Amino acid sequence: MRKRLALFGSGRGSNGEALYRAIQHNRIQGDIVLIISDIPSSGIVEKGYSWQIPVHVVDPTNYGNEEVWTQAMLDLLEDYKVDGILLAGYMRMLPPTFVQVYRGKILNIHPSLLPAFVGLQAQKQALVKGVKYTGCTVHFVDEGMDTGPIIAQAVVPVYEDDTVDTLSTRILHEEHRIYPEAVGLFCDDALEIVGTRVLTGKQAVRK
Ligand code: GRF
Repeated sequence: MRKRLALFGSGRGSNGEALYRAIQHNRIQGDIVLIISDIPSSGIVEKGYSWQIPVHVVDPTNYGNEEVWTQAMLDLLEDYKVDGILLAGYMRMLPPTFVQVYRGKILNIHPSLLPAFVGLQAQKQALVKGVKYTGCTVHFVDEGMDTGPIIAQAVVPVYEDDTVDTLSTRILHEEHRIYPEAVGLFCDDALEIVGTRVLTGKQAVRK
């Protein structure tokens, strides 16, 4: 059965677009049935309209408190019978009560090799630290900041003349590759969470 997916984003939506294209090319056995954004003017909202996918702007500042905001999102997801949630540049922490309902069904992409460089400006953090390699990570979302079980990672070199822009572009290229792959596995029910780890059954058998 194809999975019904909700896409959450706050920004330009390039990962959302990579996922949308992968679905169109039949590389993901699921469909984006709903887009939720907290920023009405964001690229992901515009893209959603152009793809003719229902878009809902849910701005927490329009709700009295966290509980009301959380319930509004849960009601929407219930209405659309959502099986999985894909965070793609969604710039807010989801409340713990929300995460509890969809545990093991919320995926996120982060532009670093977690657990290094959590939170905002991960590419800048990598440059400041002087690491020689960084990358991106797809992970399940738990109550922490970028702390959930890791599904997939890609490594990217850091060059001495990199700027935040050049490094971000190099990482983004890999994001657009591994996020659709990971979502494909999720939709195939090929991801097993075992404690803090995710088994995909895809890794080479050790000799
Ligand atoms: C990406 O770098 C993603 O890893 C991070 O936010 C950025 C979103 O970019 N979480 P886009 O909106 O998908 O283009």
